[in-house]
Amino acid sequence: MSFAELWRQLEPIGRHPAGGYRRYSWTPADAECRAWFTRHADGLGLTAEQDRNGNLWAWWGSRDAAREDAVVTGSHLDSVPDGGGYDGALGVASALAAVAELKSRNFNPERPVAIAVFTEEEGARFRVPCLGSRLITGAIEPGAARALGDDDGVTLAAAMTAAGCDAGLIGADEGLLARLGAFVELHVEQGRALAPMGAAIGVAEGIWPHGRWRFDFAGRPDHAGTARLADRNDPMLPYASTVLAARQAAADHGALATFGKVIAEPGGANGVSSSVRAWLDARAPDEETLGETAAAIRSAAEISAGEHGVTLTVRQESYTPLVRFDETLRDRITGVLGAAGITAPVLPTGAGHDAGVLAARIPTAMLFVRNPTGVSHSPAEHAEEADCEAGVHALALVLEDLAG
Ligand code: GLV
Ligand code: MN
Ligand code: MN
Repeated sequence: MSFAELWRQLEPIGRHPAGGYRRYSWTPADAECRAWFTRHADGLGLTAEQDRNGNLWAWWGSRDAAREDAVVTGSHLDSVPDGGGYDGALGVASALAAVAELKSRNFNPERPVAIAVFTEEEGARFRVPCLGSRLITGAIEPGAARALGDDDGVTLAAAMTAAGCDAGLIGADEGLLARLGAFVELHVEQGRALAPMGAAIGVAEGIWPHGRWRFDFAGRPDHAGTARLADRNDPMLPYASTVLAARQAAADHGALATFGKVIAEPGGANGVSSSVRAWLDARAPDEETLGETAAAIRSAAEISAGEHGVTLTVRQESYTPLVRFDETLRDRITGVLGAAGITAPVLPTGAGHDAGVLAARIPTAMLFVRNPTGVSHSPAEHAEEADCEAGVHALALVLEDLAG
């Protein structure tokens, strides 16, 4: 199965007529993505299965549970709201195509090879990114995970149960982890470093630490046409100044800070809001800077809330420490690619990945495929087909080297 054909079949799934993707975990679009993956894994003669945490695995070669050196590749199929088609999906389609390439060359892996599809990497539905890989590695407690709720109040446990899974079984999976020897995730580049360097493929150095915080500003609802300005407790005002403070704090610290989601209640155009709930995503080159940036934003929010007679509650919803990928594995990969005439610059990234979570437990690396505009988490996210093919070939070379 060629990459182009795999892509052609995956492309329409979960795409909103406006152009972006809405592939949220445990929804019908997610089920269709999973069916696409399983169908093609079966077609390649791989053994597809779902683990206790809802992640998909397709195994090639020995399934002997005693083997502890499987070479794993893959990524995720869920998306952010109105996201691009490449984030995650490119890594999964490339993994299938790379295995197809190796099979067509009659390559016989010495080590088991597996393709993984991790659930809820974006945290778009249940708000904890890399949920599937966090669960496997025990980075989130199963009870806390089961209770996570989406915007409609549906819990993860209920969503998994509706999808036919036993949510009572989620949690750390040491047996599965013990079978894994290395993980290499291919991903569309998020940022624009490769294009100016004239390189189609990059290799990851590490991932900036990042976190998400929920800010709840609670005020008093009132009439937009009659309540005097001085009498209002309008939660929109401290929220607005917090957005500006976040921008300033990020600039001051060399960090990134974004409020990308906000819900104003009750949502009347002619009323002062009763509450504003907003989510801060902050990232920085190191954890100290991230802590300082988040603290500066929180302090600005507290001061402004006080000035407006508004109550503020801040809760951290997720945190991912700094990740440095395995240098030995990275050098081996750049060596393999270099020997094939592929120059792959080493790049840091501010984007989160399941590879970052798994890096705490097994040697992990990432390949990036050039994104000509750098835009991501947007329908404009793109990679040229020739670069995608180059990514498949690079991944096949890496798998061949590691598993050969
Ligand atoms: C995932 O793509 C993230 O960086 O939030
Ligand atoms: Mn993403
Ligand atoms: Mn991704």
